[in-house]
Amino acid sequence: MPPRWRKDLERILITERQLARRVRALSRAIERDFAGREMVVVSLLNGTVMFLADLIRRLSLPLRLDFIGVSSYGAGAASGELVFTKELRLSVRGRDVLLVDDILDTGKTLARVRAKLQALGPRRLRTCVLLNKGARRVEKIEADYVGFEIPDFFVVGYGLDFAERYRNLPFVGVLRPQVYHRAGPDLDGVGGKPPAGLAESQCPSPRRLRPGPVSSA
Ligand code: PRP
Repeated sequence: MPPRWRKDLERILITERQLARRVRALSRAIERDFAGREMVVVSLLNGTVMFLADLIRRLSLPLRLDFIGVSSYGAGAASGELVFTKELRLSVRGRDVLLVDDILDTGKTLARVRAKLQALGPRRLRTCVLLNKGARRVEKIEADYVGFEIPDFFVVGYGLDFAERYRNLPFVGVLRPQVYHRAGPDLDGVGGKPPAGLAESQCPSPRRLRPGPVSSA
């Protein structure tokens, strides 16, 4: 790990190389499934920034791109409500839609946004997430395309943040507990969303990372 990040990160969970390989595999699977259709990619702000850029540049399909801004604010992952900060502008009625997010955690975000899109009458709606943290799921939802299954660690980098920081890391790393324990609830005035799970159980001893299945939709 670059020395610059050693103070804040325990370790790298997913390397740049692993990310690149997996994103390539995902884009191949998506290309196969959406072949012959013009798709609308709907990406959730802000965490998808890197994943989305890498994914769509590998898709040799005609596509249109739009964003939905959504954030969890309030008293933490268990009770936080979702706030929409940007609405969809493109029409998805009768279209083949791919909904992209960075991480599927409790599932509240994806479940809510998927239902919102479904109500707009797409021909087909598929979901794609880079990371799946099944351990904390509250909603009954799974993504159609999953980059990596990850254990219950607090992860940052490759678009994922803690208090809006660390999004620029080119890899996915595990944040040291002391970083989020010392942070106040209103750090940088970003809405006060505590990290997804503040308990020590978020940082158990390292478990093996395994690539998730790529669904054939
Ligand atoms: C994060 C992440 C997902 C969501 C997953 O968004 O980007 O959209 O939480 O959590 P869930 O499955 O428990 O709903 P966040 O609100 O932190 O916004 P961000 O994308 O701007 O970081």
